[in-house]
Amino acid sequence: MTIPDLLQNRYSASFFDPTRTLSEAEIQQLVSLATTAPSAFNAQNWRFIAVRSSEQKERLKKLAYMQAKVSDAAVTFIVCGETQVHRHLGNNLRSCLEAQAITQTLLDNWVGVAEKMYGPNPQFQRDEAVRSASLAGMTLMVAAHGLGLAAGPMIGFDPAGVAREFGLSESEVPVMLIAVGHPTTGNAAQKPRRPLHEVLVIR
Ligand SMILES: Cc1cc2nc3c(=O)[nH]c(=O)nc-3n(C[C@H](O)[C@H](O)[C@H](O)COP(=O)(O)O)c2cc1C
Repeated sequence: MTIPDLLQNRYSASFFDPTRTLSEAEIQQLVSLATTAPSAFNAQNWRFIAVRSSEQKERLKKLAYMQAKVSDAAVTFIVCGETQVHRHLGNNLRSCLEAQAITQTLLDNWVGVAEKMYGPNPQFQRDEAVRSASLAGMTLMVAAHGLGLAAGPMIGFDPAGVAREFGLSESEVPVMLIAVGHPTTGNAAQKPRRPLHEVLVIR
Protein backbone atom coordinates (compact mmCIF):
# COMPACT_ATOMS: atom_id res chain seq x y z
CA MET A 1 0.00 0.00 0.00
CA THR A 2 1.30 3.48 -0.80
CA ILE A 3 1.39 6.13 1.91
CA PRO A 4 -1.50 8.12 0.34
CA ASP A 5 -3.56 4.89 0.18
CA LEU A 6 -2.73 4.09 3.77
CA LEU A 7 -3.70 7.57 4.98
CA GLN A 8 -6.94 7.58 2.98
CA ASN A 9 -7.92 4.12 4.20
CA ARG A 10 -7.06 4.53 7.87
CA TYR A 11 -10.08 4.83 10.12
CA SER A 12 -10.62 5.25 13.82
CA ALA A 13 -11.62 1.78 14.94
CA SER A 14 -14.16 1.06 17.64
CA PHE A 15 -14.65 -2.66 17.15
CA PHE A 16 -11.88 -5.17 17.79
CA ASP A 17 -11.79 -8.94 17.94
CA PRO A 18 -11.46 -9.58 21.69
CA THR A 19 -10.11 -13.09 21.10
CA ARG A 20 -6.99 -11.92 19.27
CA THR A 21 -3.90 -10.79 21.06
CA LEU A 22 -0.59 -9.17 20.13
CA SER A 23 2.75 -10.62 21.17
CA GLU A 24 5.33 -8.63 23.06
CA ALA A 25 7.41 -8.54 19.86
CA GLU A 26 4.47 -7.06 17.92
CA ILE A 27 3.93 -4.42 20.62
CA GLN A 28 7.63 -3.60 20.52
CA GLN A 29 7.52 -3.28 16.74
CA LEU A 30 4.59 -0.85 16.95
CA VAL A 31 6.31 1.34 19.51
CA SER A 32 9.61 1.16 17.70
CA LEU A 33 7.84 2.48 14.58
CA ALA A 34 5.98 5.12 16.63
CA THR A 35 9.27 6.45 17.92
CA THR A 36 10.39 7.27 14.40
CA ALA A 37 8.18 10.36 14.84
CA PRO A 38 10.07 13.64 14.95
CA SER A 39 10.19 15.81 18.07
CA ALA A 40 11.70 19.21 18.85
CA PHE A 41 15.46 18.79 19.46
CA ASN A 42 14.81 15.08 18.88
CA ALA A 43 13.83 15.17 22.56
CA GLN A 44 11.62 12.08 22.23
CA ASN A 45 9.68 13.22 25.26
CA TRP A 46 7.17 10.39 25.12
CA ARG A 47 6.46 7.11 26.84
CA PHE A 48 4.04 4.34 25.98
CA ILE A 49 2.29 2.17 28.52
CA ALA A 50 1.00 -0.90 26.70
CA VAL A 51 -1.97 -2.15 28.67
CA ARG A 52 -2.69 -5.69 27.54
CA SER A 53 -3.61 -7.94 30.46
CA SER A 54 -7.36 -8.40 30.96
CA GLU A 55 -7.13 -7.14 34.50
CA GLN A 56 -5.25 -3.95 33.61
CA LYS A 57 -7.46 -3.28 30.58
CA GLU A 58 -10.54 -3.49 32.84
CA ARG A 59 -8.93 -1.00 35.23
CA LEU A 60 -8.21 1.35 32.35
CA LYS A 61 -11.70 0.90 30.88
CA LYS A 62 -13.24 2.12 34.14
CA LEU A 63 -11.18 5.30 33.80
CA ALA A 64 -12.24 5.66 30.15
CA TYR A 65 -16.01 5.86 30.64
CA MET A 66 -16.33 2.11 29.99
CA GLN A 67 -15.38 2.42 26.31
CA ALA A 68 -15.47 -1.21 25.17
CA LYS A 69 -12.56 -0.87 22.77
CA VAL A 70 -10.18 -0.36 25.69
CA SER A 71 -10.63 -3.99 26.68
CA ASP A 72 -11.69 -5.52 23.34
CA ALA A 73 -8.50 -4.39 21.60
CA ALA A 74 -5.43 -6.55 22.02
CA VAL A 75 -3.62 -3.64 23.63
CA THR A 76 -4.53 -0.11 24.65
CA PHE A 77 -1.62 2.28 24.78
CA ILE A 78 -1.45 5.18 27.18
CA VAL A 79 0.63 7.67 25.19
CA CYS A 80 2.38 9.95 27.66
CA GLY A 81 4.13 13.25 27.00
CA GLU A 82 6.97 14.48 29.21
CA THR A 83 6.80 18.16 30.14
CA GLN A 84 10.35 18.49 31.52
CA VAL A 85 11.94 18.24 28.06
CA HIS A 86 14.94 20.38 29.04
CA ARG A 87 15.86 18.21 32.03
CA HIS A 88 15.94 14.99 30.03
CA LEU A 89 17.37 16.26 26.76
CA GLY A 90 21.03 15.50 27.46
CA ASN A 91 20.19 11.94 28.40
CA ASN A 92 17.70 11.41 25.58
CA LEU A 93 20.28 12.47 23.00
CA ARG A 94 22.92 9.99 24.18
CA SER A 95 22.25 7.56 21.33
CA CYS A 96 22.60 10.43 18.82
CA LEU A 97 25.94 11.30 20.31
CA GLU A 98 27.08 7.68 20.26
CA ALA A 99 26.06 7.35 16.62
CA GLN A 100 27.86 10.63 15.89
CA ALA A 101 24.64 12.07 14.50
CA ILE A 102 25.34 15.17 16.59
CA THR A 103 28.46 16.54 18.27
CA GLN A 104 28.92 17.16 21.98
CA THR A 105 29.06 20.89 21.18
CA LEU A 106 25.70 20.79 19.45
CA LEU A 107 24.21 18.70 22.23
CA ASP A 108 25.41 21.18 24.87
CA ASN A 109 24.04 24.02 22.76
CA TRP A 110 20.64 22.37 22.41
CA VAL A 111 20.45 21.62 26.13
CA GLY A 112 21.20 25.29 26.89
CA VAL A 113 18.62 26.55 24.39
CA ALA A 114 16.00 24.07 25.62
CA GLU A 115 16.59 25.14 29.22
CA LYS A 116 15.94 28.76 28.28
CA MET A 117 12.91 27.91 26.14
CA TYR A 118 11.10 25.49 28.39
CA GLY A 119 12.51 26.11 31.88
CA PRO A 120 10.53 29.24 32.73
CA ASN A 121 7.47 28.41 30.64
CA PRO A 122 5.06 25.74 31.95
CA GLN A 123 2.60 26.37 29.12
CA PHE A 124 5.31 25.69 26.54
CA GLN A 125 6.40 22.59 28.47
CA ARG A 126 2.89 21.21 28.30
CA ASP A 127 2.49 22.20 24.64
CA GLU A 128 5.66 20.29 23.79
CA ALA A 129 4.53 17.22 25.73
CA VAL A 130 1.23 17.15 23.88
CA ARG A 131 2.86 17.95 20.54
CA SER A 132 5.47 15.20 20.73
CA ALA A 133 3.13 12.55 22.11
CA SER A 134 0.52 13.40 19.46
CA LEU A 135 3.03 12.99 16.63
CA ALA A 136 4.13 9.67 18.11
CA GLY A 137 0.51 8.63 18.59
CA MET A 138 -0.37 9.33 14.97
CA THR A 139 2.73 7.48 13.84
CA LEU A 140 1.69 4.52 15.96
CA MET A 141 -1.78 4.52 14.40
CA VAL A 142 -0.42 4.67 10.87
CA ALA A 143 2.04 1.89 11.70
CA ALA A 144 -0.76 -0.26 13.10
CA HIS A 145 -2.84 0.13 9.96
CA GLY A 146 0.19 -0.50 7.79
CA LEU A 147 0.71 -3.78 9.63
CA GLY A 148 -2.87 -4.88 8.95
CA LEU A 149 -4.17 -3.93 12.38
CA ALA A 150 -6.57 -1.15 13.37
CA ALA A 151 -6.28 1.66 15.88
CA GLY A 152 -8.73 3.84 17.78
CA PRO A 153 -7.56 7.03 19.51
CA MET A 154 -9.35 8.23 22.63
CA ILE A 155 -9.41 11.35 24.74
CA GLY A 156 -12.48 10.17 26.65
CA PHE A 157 -10.76 9.24 29.91
CA ASP A 158 -10.03 10.68 33.32
CA PRO A 159 -6.47 12.00 32.99
CA ALA A 160 -5.85 12.39 36.72
CA GLY A 161 -7.14 8.86 37.35
CA VAL A 162 -5.01 7.38 34.57
CA ALA A 163 -1.93 9.25 35.80
CA ARG A 164 -2.50 8.03 39.34
CA GLU A 165 -3.39 4.41 38.62
CA PHE A 166 -0.85 3.78 35.88
CA GLY A 167 2.14 5.35 37.58
CA LEU A 168 2.78 8.42 35.47
CA SER A 169 5.31 10.80 36.97
CA GLU A 170 4.33 14.29 38.10
CA SER A 171 5.84 15.68 34.91
CA GLU A 172 4.01 13.37 32.49
CA VAL A 173 0.72 14.08 30.73
CA PRO A 174 -1.49 11.19 29.58
CA VAL A 175 -2.05 12.64 26.11
CA MET A 176 -4.24 9.98 24.57
CA LEU A 177 -5.23 6.35 24.69
CA ILE A 178 -4.89 4.29 21.53
CA ALA A 179 -6.60 0.93 21.25
CA VAL A 180 -4.78 -1.34 18.80
CA GLY A 181 -5.69 -4.80 17.61
CA HIS A 182 -7.38 -6.90 14.97
CA PRO A 183 -10.53 -5.21 13.73
CA THR A 184 -13.84 -7.03 13.64
CA THR A 185 -17.04 -6.14 11.76
CA GLY A 186 -18.90 -2.89 12.35
CA ASN A 187 -16.13 -0.36 11.95
CA ALA A 188 -17.05 2.59 9.74
CA ALA A 189 -14.73 3.70 6.96
CA GLN A 190 -12.83 6.93 7.38
CA LYS A 191 -15.30 9.82 7.69
CA PRO A 192 -15.43 12.64 5.17
CA ARG A 193 -13.25 15.64 5.92
CA ARG A 194 -13.95 19.36 5.61
CA PRO A 195 -13.40 20.72 2.12
CA LEU A 196 -9.89 21.81 1.35
CA HIS A 197 -10.84 25.43 0.76
CA GLU A 198 -11.88 25.72 4.42
CA VAL A 199 -8.63 24.39 5.80
CA LEU A 200 -5.96 25.40 3.29
CA VAL A 201 -4.53 28.82 2.60
CA ILE A 202 -1.85 29.15 -0.03
CA ARG A 203 -0.07 32.49 -0.07
C1 LIG B 1 -7.36 12.98 20.05
C2 LIG B 1 -8.54 12.13 19.70
C3 LIG B 1 -9.42 11.73 20.69
C4 LIG B 1 -10.50 10.91 20.40
N1 LIG B 1 -11.28 10.44 21.41
C5 LIG B 1 -12.21 9.50 21.16
C6 LIG B 1 -12.89 8.83 22.22
O1 LIG B 1 -12.63 9.06 23.41
N2 LIG B 1 -13.81 7.90 21.90
C7 LIG B 1 -14.09 7.59 20.61
O2 LIG B 1 -14.93 6.72 20.38
N3 LIG B 1 -13.45 8.18 19.58
C8 LIG B 1 -12.51 9.11 19.82
N4 LIG B 1 -11.79 9.68 18.79
C9 LIG B 1 -12.07 9.25 17.42
C10 LIG B 1 -12.62 10.37 16.56
O3 LIG B 1 -13.99 10.51 16.78
C11 LIG B 1 -12.31 10.02 15.11
O4 LIG B 1 -10.90 10.02 14.95
C12 LIG B 1 -12.93 10.99 14.12
O5 LIG B 1 -14.33 10.91 14.19
C13 LIG B 1 -12.49 10.71 12.71
O6 LIG B 1 -12.74 9.37 12.41
P1 LIG B 1 -11.95 8.64 11.21
O7 LIG B 1 -10.50 8.72 11.60
O8 LIG B 1 -12.46 7.23 11.20
O9 LIG B 1 -12.29 9.35 9.98
C14 LIG B 1 -10.74 10.52 19.07
C15 LIG B 1 -9.86 10.96 18.07
C16 LIG B 1 -8.77 11.72 18.38
C17 LIG B 1 -7.81 12.11 17.28
